[in-house]
This record gives sequence, structure tokens and C-alpha cells, in this order.
Amino acid sequence: MPVRRTSMHGQWSSRMAFVLAATGSAVGLGNIWKFPYITGENGGGAFVLVYLICIAVIGIPIMMAEVMLGRRGRQSPINTMRALIADERAHGAWRLLGWAGVAAGFLIMSYYSVIAGEALAYVFRTAGGMFDGATADGVRSIFAAFTSDAEALLAWHTIFTALTMVVVARGVRGGLEMATKIMMPALFVILLLLVGYALDLGKFDQAVTFLFWPDFSKISANGILIAMGHAFFTLSLGMGAIMVYGSYMRQDTSIAKTSILISLADTTVALLAGLAIFPIVFTNGLEPAAGPGLIFQTLPLAFGHMPGGSFFGTLFFILLVFAAWSSAISLIEPAVAWLVENRGLSRVDATVRVGSLTWLLGLATVFSATGVTVGDIAHKIAGSVGLSTFAFNGRFFQMTAFGLIDYLTANIMLPLGGLFIAIFAGWVMAKRSVQDEMDVGNRFAFGLWYIVIRFVTPFAVIVVFLDAIGVVPWLRALIQR
Ligand code: TRP
Repeated sequence: MPVRRTSMHGQWSSRMAFVLAATGSAVGLGNIWKFPYITGENGGGAFVLVYLICIAVIGIPIMMAEVMLGRRGRQSPINTMRALIADERAHGAWRLLGWAGVAAGFLIMSYYSVIAGEALAYVFRTAGGMFDGATADGVRSIFAAFTSDAEALLAWHTIFTALTMVVVARGVRGGLEMATKIMMPALFVILLLLVGYALDLGKFDQAVTFLFWPDFSKISANGILIAMGHAFFTLSLGMGAIMVYGSYMRQDTSIAKTSILISLADTTVALLAGLAIFPIVFTNGLEPAAGPGLIFQTLPLAFGHMPGGSFFGTLFFILLVFAAWSSAISLIEPAVAWLVENRGLSRVDATVRVGSLTWLLGLATVFSATGVTVGDIAHKIAGSVGLSTFAFNGRFFQMTAFGLIDYLTANIMLPLGGLFIAIFAGWVMAKRSVQDEMDVGNRFAFGLWYIVIRFVTPFAVIVVFLDAIGVVPWLRALIQR
């Protein structure tokens, strides 16, 4: 049954505008900051291969589903789900999907702006020549000093949050469309330049082997979960960000084509970032598993030694901030759209509320940088009420607040959100409604996607989850007995 709504928030001006905005959402810290360090932590090639498979089998089909739901509902994810529930006479509990997405967006934004703030600080540090001729140790200690300075982190976190709020307050078309049009291509070019520099470093081969030679003995079940979680994270899937962007999409834009285009662009940027960073890591004898500080401890070294380094370095960090900026916007847009729809707030009011809340949550990450773990905090709290004998040393207690938020959102909330999006599109909605909105010209292509979203994608997500909690190895042992 054809259902055609219009969005009260407006519409992208063209097909290209949607592609750019969605690519702006997808390409961000996930590609340049997170992908390299989690690849380093999880052993390289096998992790990258699993990640690429997840993009193809899980990410792209779910992106198509999520955009489709958004465009059919044409409201914030919460109200889109409500509208689709009514259209399809589905169970009211499906509304939880919208709410869980808003929660995930808040949590991700809370740390995202802290890391983006670090990138912003590095714009000025690079421009000021702080890394000229620096050594690996020098760069590392500069980063360590920076992250132990809670006041500095807080200040940059505040500035980045404010920047994000400015764009969101102005609405979808305002500054965002324009910014992404120039920034995305520029980022791409400068990444190519960095890869060109890395090509000359001597250890380029070793980096290529590390990234693309899969050694499955190096990846754990948890590593596979992290690879899958990252496929969701990097494509902005599973929380309604792409859904809300889909709700501003024109009816004549192809969901399938644009989703594939966006995913390819996103993957290319991540792989280029890997090819730029790992040669620097190996040439300088750095630790691939250095963690979240990896790009801040490697790239400044390249900038400190290449001709024109402080110019290109400054440019690079500016573009990284822009990439993060255009992503951060999509993290809070679902909540802002909902406040405007349901509470009758102006966009500005809604943005201020949402931004203040994520800013506050961000303090947890600011203080994580000093290395305080969740266990330490729990221990303190327990101690203050006389329970100090309790030992908080499980796996999650050993994480920092940032680590815990990241793990919870990327590896659990987003894949769960994506799983339910797939089930809703594949099983709950009538096939006719899906077909009507999907407008895939070609019957075969639609049929293929429909089978994947119904069977392959949910199965893959569930298997990875079961594997991570040890059910798959247990089953295997059972069979082999
Ligand atoms: N995809 C972005 C990145 O790679 C981050 C991001 C923006 C995101 N919006 C999202 C992640 C929604 C998950 C969900 O940096």
C-alpha cells in the first residue's frame, strides 16, 4: 500500500546532497581514529577481513533497510517507528527501537566529542610547529601530557560540542550540505597524500601484510564481535542516524545505489587511513596495539618529518575535525527531531537541551583519559558506604568509563538495533510495503536484498553474538564429542 508522508523538517535539496550528508555521517573518527587502533589491537589482517565481510553482508543490507524505514516514516526514528507500527499493525514494543537509538546516540556523542576535541587541539599544535623534527618518544609524551590534563580535554570537548550544536540548530540544509561538499573530497585527497608519504617509508610492505594477510590465530571471538560492531559504527547504523537522514531523502533517490556508494566511500577512507598509519608504526618501531591514542602518536611523526609537514598536518587535523563534525551532527539529530516533533520546541531549544546532556555525559570520558577504571570508581563508591571488601575486577570493571561506553554502544547496542531493523523490515512489514518503498527497479536485485535482510543478516549478527558469549565454541565441542 503506497504511503507517502512529508517531513516537517524539510528535505535534502538533491540526491547528491543525501549522499554527501550520509557519507559525512559515516566518514568520521570511526574511519581514521578508531579503525586503525582496533585493527592494531586485534591483530590486523583477519580482523580487517571480518570487518569487510560484515560491511558487505550486514552493513550494506541494513543501511538499505534503515534508510527505507526512515523515508517511509519521515519523522524522528521514535515517531517513524510509531507510524510504521500503525501502518503495519505491529506490536507497540517496536517503539523501543527508536528509544534505544536515541540512548545510543547520546552515549556515543558523549565520548565522540571528547576525541574530536583532541583532534581540534592537534590542529593548533601542528600549526604551531610542536612536532617539527619530533621523535617517537617526544610525540608520545606530548600526547600523554595532553590526555592527563583534564582541564584541556574539557575545554576542547566543550568547543566541539558547541560547534556541533551550531550546525544542528540551523537545520539539515543550512551549513551541513555545504560543508560536506568541500570537506569530504579534500579529506580524501590529503589521505592519498599521506599514503604517498607512507609508501616511501620502507616498511610499507610490512603494513600491507599486517592489514591484508589474514592470520586467524590472531583474532578472538571478542575480536570478531568488535569487527562487526565497527561495521555498524563506521556506517552510522543501528541507532536511527541513517534513518533520520533517510527521512529527509527525496522520493526519487535510489536507496540501494546510494547505500552502496556511501559504504564504498566509507570503507575506502578507512583502508586509506590504515595504509597511511601502519607504515609509520612499523618504521618507527611503535606498538600497533597502542590503543585510542594511536593516530595522535603516529601521524604527528610523519608531519614532523615530511616537507611542508606542518602545513599538511594542520590541514589533515582540520579535515579530521570536519569529518567528525559532520558525523556528530547525525548522532544528536534523531533526539533533536523528536523534541521538535513532540515537545513543540524550536530547533535551537531542542539542540541546546540535547547538547547539554551529551556534554555532561562526556565528563565520564574526560576523566577516563587519566586511566581511572570503572572498577576504581565502583570501589570508591562501595568504600564510602562501607563495602570496601568487595572486589570489582571483572572484565568490564577493568575498562575505563570511555571503554565501557564504547564497548556497550558499538558492540552491543548498535548490532542489536541493526538486528531489529532487519527483522522489522524483513519479517514485520508487509512485503508489499517494503517493495513499494524500496523502488529497486530490478526485481532480481530486490529479491536478493530481501532474502539477505530476512535470513542472512540476522543469522550473521546472532552467530557473532553467540560466538562472543561462548555458545558457538560450546556447540562445536558438543558436536565433536
Ligand atoms: N560513523 C561515524 C564514524 O565513523 C560515527 C557515527 C555518526 C555514528 N553517527 C553515528 C556511529 C550513528 C553509530 C551510529 O565516525
